[in-house]
Amino acid sequence: MTSFSQQVTTVVIENTLIKTQPILKVHNLGITLHRDGLPIQLLKGVGFTLESGSTLGILGESGCGKSLLAKALVSIFPPESTVMGEILFCPGDKEEIDLITLDISALRGIRGKRIGIMFQDTLSSMNPVLTCGRQIFDALPEAQRKDHKVGKNRVVELLDFVGLVNPKRIIETYPHELSGGMIQRVALAAALAGNPDILIVDEPTTALDVISQVELIETLMGLKKEMELSVIVISHDIKMVEGWVDMLMVMYSGKIVEYGKSKDVLISPSHPYTKALLKTAESYERGRKPISIPGDPPSTLFRPSGCNFHPRCDFMKEKCSQEEPQISETKLGGFVRCFYPIE
Ligand SMILES: Nc1ncnc2c1ncn2[C@@H]1O[C@H](COP(=O)(O)OP(=O)(O)OP(=O)(O)O)[C@@H](O)[C@H]1O
Ligand code: SF4
Ligand SMILES: [Mg+2]
Repeated sequence: MTSFSQQVTTVVIENTLIKTQPILKVHNLGITLHRDGLPIQLLKGVGFTLESGSTLGILGESGCGKSLLAKALVSIFPPESTVMGEILFCPGDKEEIDLITLDISALRGIRGKRIGIMFQDTLSSMNPVLTCGRQIFDALPEAQRKDHKVGKNRVVELLDFVGLVNPKRIIETYPHELSGGMIQRVALAAALAGNPDILIVDEPTTALDVISQVELIETLMGLKKEMELSVIVISHDIKMVEGWVDMLMVMYSGKIVEYGKSKDVLISPSHPYTKALLKTAESYERGRKPISIPGDPPSTLFRPSGCNFHPRCDFMKEKCSQEEPQISETKLGGFVRCFYPIE
């Protein structure tokens, strides 16, 4: 039987008529936490393929599992959890590597090296007692670290690369001495230091003013091109991913609810949740009275029965509260988890 992520690859290839090469394949990823003898499902049935050189956006409200997924992609899992599925890194020159089962020493050669990650809370992910320069230096490949002068020059180059003025001054600063926008860029430089194939950025523009947001997105777009990166960008904000990601994945309550080409998902959403997110974003953009989705996203402890979105869904019918919808293909070649997708 073809898995969801295998189907996705085929559809993408057929629709774009481009011979693509996957760099990351995720099959049926699930994370279950075990607390006080009770299983709590944090992620369920997550599957997708990241094509080499492409950008994937991951969208969803707070608590839907975006950061859990980002960390899982570099094999960081919550303590006391069990993990199922596969996360296959496909370097092209070598065999596929399953990051879930990989031992820690082999993982060190991939995490931060072939897969760079900029965590959501950049300031707290940095060491407060080490200078920014030292932290980027430590993330360089060993060959560059061996010669201090070569390494230092590379750190300056990286800081310049991510758009920071006066990089020679920045290498001497400590994280708390910099503004939010500068810290984001320092963290980005650290994520790029290992010269990765894949860059994962989790909420890179949160807490930035609008101008800094635009500038950071432009920087990311430029870096992607120059460094031939495959990028995964995570956001709760549709406007942040619109216009530059190739594929878009919408998550709700630890599951993928819609996946497809970005323009298809944004112009003709199939899932009522995607449509509701778009309506909210449009109301903000047009300066109208903001329309928010009624109710709150479910907690991991109390997920509604059937379709987890049913208590908030405008299209809900009786079946929705009784059965869990599975993923099916849309007319546009994307995927949706809904009994009554929007045509
Ligand atoms: N280590 C952990 N232990 C227990 N629960 C966790 C852990 N990490 C995440 N969770 C829970 O999993 C759910 C998803 O968390 P996650 O941080 O991935 O959300 P998110 O989509 O990134 O949200 P946000 O937009 O606020 O960053 C949340 O309910 C969170 O409380
Ligand atoms: S399955 Fe039902 S409740 Fe869930 S999104 Fe579709 S229509 Fe709405
Ligand atoms: Mg998060």
